Amino acid sequence: MDVADRQSVRGDFNNATFEYFGARSRFFTQQGRYFVETDNARGELQVFPIAYTFGIDPLQQYLVQFPDGRLQALGIAWDTRPAEQGGQRWFHLYPDRRVAHDDALHWTGAFQNANSRCAACHTTGYEKGYQQAQDRYETRWAEPHVGCEACHGPGSRHMEWAKGESSLSDKGLVTRIGATWVPATGARPLPPQADAPMGGQLEVCAGCHARRTELGSPDIAASFHDNHALGALVDGLYFPDGQIRDEVFEAGSFLQSRMHQNHVTCSNCHEPHGGGLRASGNALCLQCHEPNRFQSRAHFFHKEDSSGAQCIACHMPARTYMGVDGRHDHSFRIPDPVASESLGVPDACTACHANRDVRWAADVMRRRTGRDAPVYAHAALLARARRTDAGVAPELLAFARDGSRAPILRAIALQESARFVSVEQQQVIAESLLASDPLIRAAAAAAATQLEPAVRLQLLQPLLTDPSRSVRIAAARQLIELRVAGLPEPQRPALEKLFDEYRASLAHNADMPESATDLALFHAAQGDPEAAASALAHALKLAPKYLPAMLNLADLHRARGRDDLAEALLDDAVAAYPESGDARHSLGLLYVRTGRTIQSVALLAAASRLAPDNPRYALVHGMALVESGSRVAGLAVLEAALRRFPDSDPIREALAGYRSTPAAY
Ligand code: HEC
Ligand code: HEC
Ligand code: HEC
Ligand code: HEC
Ligand code: HEC
Ligand code: HEC
Ligand code: HEC
Repeated sequence: MDVADRQSVRGDFNNATFEYFGARSRFFTQQGRYFVETDNARGELQVFPIAYTFGIDPLQQYLVQFPDGRLQALGIAWDTRPAEQGGQRWFHLYPDRRVAHDDALHWTGAFQNANSRCAACHTTGYEKGYQQAQDRYETRWAEPHVGCEACHGPGSRHMEWAKGESSLSDKGLVTRIGATWVPATGARPLPPQADAPMGGQLEVCAGCHARRTELGSPDIAASFHDNHALGALVDGLYFPDGQIRDEVFEAGSFLQSRMHQNHVTCSNCHEPHGGGLRASGNALCLQCHEPNRFQSRAHFFHKEDSSGAQCIACHMPARTYMGVDGRHDHSFRIPDPVASESLGVPDACTACHANRDVRWAADVMRRRTGRDAPVYAHAALLARARRTDAGVAPELLAFARDGSRAPILRAIALQESARFVSVEQQQVIAESLLASDPLIRAAAAAAATQLEPAVRLQLLQPLLTDPSRSVRIAAARQLIELRVAGLPEPQRPALEKLFDEYRASLAHNADMPESATDLALFHAAQGDPEAAASALAHALKLAPKYLPAMLNLADLHRARGRDDLAEALLDDAVAAYPESGDARHSLGLLYVRTGRTIQSVALLAAASRLAPDNPRYALVHGMALVESGSRVAGLAVLEAALRRFPDSDPIREALAGYRSTPAAY
């Protein structure tokens, strides 16, 4: 990040124009300052001064500062690559979807606000300074880029050490982030660690190089798990085998790798100060990997000078974000077209052999290795879990308990087991609460989400006083129905403290509609609809079309007998989100409640079609058909639903109920 000036700006501001769905933006300079004319929050053209540049290569974004302290990131960015590679042009970060002025992703909106969503990782000594009462920012930073203290913490003791205060340990540096792997010895200096914790350097890098949520103002001397909640390997962010899908940076991938389990760190490959690599080409990997074994045709079966003989071509396939920014998968996995063939996950071979299909690559690998199953067991387990294939539950739980697996993989297996409620699942949750890795304990809380409230609250109580804040916060989410007054006296202070901490962490992100909505859910569960409504009003002020807030507010209206208000809101939601099954389902239920069962059917059918993984939507659709007189069609929908969700008791019971009552006509 830098102040926009002649040194920092890389885009063409020489009256360049850019056309996006009929709106023409113009980039120009005046008296040495940089300006853009583009659509404002009302969809009209307006001139804005550019305050800051953001990023250097392969793209640069621009921030506009508003009088309330908001810094907003323009959706039009400059492609800094050379013209021969297609660069030196303006482009939109959402080229295919028309982001209009009232779209949640418009550059003037909450989701492109740099104070809350960008600057913490791109600056040093960041203080967001959000003032909720005035809905404005007093944001500060020590340096507008990643400086020494972003990795090393406050440097004053290091300065004293440098001036001769030799009694200071670690050169006076606050964080211990040196690499622990010493490849030169030729032997592994440390035993592999099954439950390798994040530790040292990775905790510092992951603060910015991970998909994560800040739980408060980060303190670099504290543990990562006190400062942040690491994003789990959930569907949408990662493929089921753990490959990167959405923009997730590096740490969540690296934690999956055997390298991490063997104490390798980022700085074994990256020079943290210059930004370069420790060696170029395959030499980087041959620092540690036996050249005789790996730098050979026997291993990579391509000519030595072929692009297909580069270690990273097979072991770090890239994926492109923000239009032009290729990022390498840091899970250092074995390329596995056999898994891609059955699971549809990307594979490194056909990424390069674009004229071949995955079956070809899988056949090559089957012939070479004689192996016909995916290399990594979790890939198929997670894919099956996400299809709600109940047969997978025992293996999924066994994986979650397997101490030889990387904790981040065990954690996602545990979290996905929430779909298969059983006594065994509860036992594994209970066991996992004692795991040493906070990722597993936090996943145990998430895994309990489908249990009956009473069971869940009983089970998760040990987490009230967990040593890691990320775990306590994950538990708090599942415990919001607990009442302080309902607990035995000695346990009350712990719960009060937990809820205070939960609210504080939501307050830290009070400028995010997601947090305001979580706060509303907390208040609603605690029996305070007034407070819930005001939190939702705040969420919708930040992002007027934020769907979860709209749906929750409609639900609050319902609870207060105001279905008229709920209906208006849900009509809006359905119009704004044509692809949302949730919005249609909620509106369909409202129709049923208000006596319009026949009209509800189309909405409930659409909801179930848009959210095919949701057994409840299928159930409600079938029931509405039967109740509105279409018994045969309704039973057919329920039968089809039972085939898709053979373990759903509610669907089975509804079918049995209808079958045992004779048709009324
Ligand atoms: C979690 C920390 C984090 C957040 C939040 C974040 N970034 Fe980044 N950003 C990074 C890191 C780290 C990289 C380097 C690439 C990587 O790690 O894969 C990066 C790279 C970039 C780049 C590529 C150009 C370059 O010089 O590398 C741009 C542009 C960028 N970010 C813009 C943004 C914008 C705009 C936002 C907010 C909408 C944002 N970032 C939010 C951490 C973050
Ligand atoms: C991106 C993170 C990062 C930034 C920014 C950074 N460092 Fe470092 N620094 C490291 C890492 C990692 C190491 C350990 C190097 C290794 O493993 O070989 C290190 C090592 C050091 C050491 C050696 C410590 C020792 O025990 O020998 C000093 C001194 C140092 N850094 C000072 C600085 C100064 C001064 C700046 C700013 C100009 C700076 N660093 C910026 C990550 C960073
Ligand atoms: C304060 C947040 C922050 C921390 C902490 C941090 N990084 Fe980064 N890092 C970034 C951002 C942002 C970028 C994108 C480059 C840019 O535009 O400034 C980046 C870029 C990089 C790059 C790519 C450089 C390039 O030229 O492409 C590497 C490698 C990297 N960081 C490694 C590390 C390592 C290793 C650590 C831990 C020792 C670390 N970073 C700690 C924010 C951070
Ligand atoms: C600092 C040492 C070091 C460097 C550098 C290094 N590795 Fe590794 N790598 C290891 C260790 C240690 C293991 C684990 C070996 C084991 O479990 O027996 C490993 C394992 C692997 C695996 C096995 C993964 C699996 O899931 O079975 C692959 C693939 C791999 N490395 C690729 C690479 C590539 C590609 C590079 C270069 C970009 C590289 N390594 C650089 C130390 C290193
Ligand atoms: C053309 C693709 C390709 C290239 C290039 C490639 N590898 Fe591999 N690598 C593989 C495959 C496939 C396997 C799995 C082999 C098997 O299962 O028998 C593998 C396995 C590995 C393993 C794990 C070995 C084990 O026994 O667990 C390491 C480590 C590794 N490669 C390192 C490297 C290094 C270092 C380079 C570069 C010098 C490299 N690879 C280049 C495809 C490649
Ligand atoms: C075994 C070596 C190795 C390790 C360990 C490693 N990286 Fe990388 N990293 C690479 C290579 C190789 C690239 C690709 C560089 C290139 O092509 O210019 C890369 C690229 C990157 C980039 C640029 C964006 C991209 O994906 O191309 C960032 C940022 C980065 N690494 C951060 C990290 C962080 C943070 C860690 C620790 C969590 C880490 N790396 C661990 C080898 C490694
Ligand atoms: C970065 C690009 C790249 C990647 C990744 C790559 N290859 Fe190749 N591959 C090549 C090139 C270039 C050739 C031709 C030159 C040669 O033989 O080295 C080739 C040749 C081949 C050939 C022999 C010629 C043919 O087309 O029948 C086979 C078989 C093959 N690759 C299989 C694979 C498999 C399997 C993988 C994944 C494990 C893979 N390749 C990954 C680039 C790549």
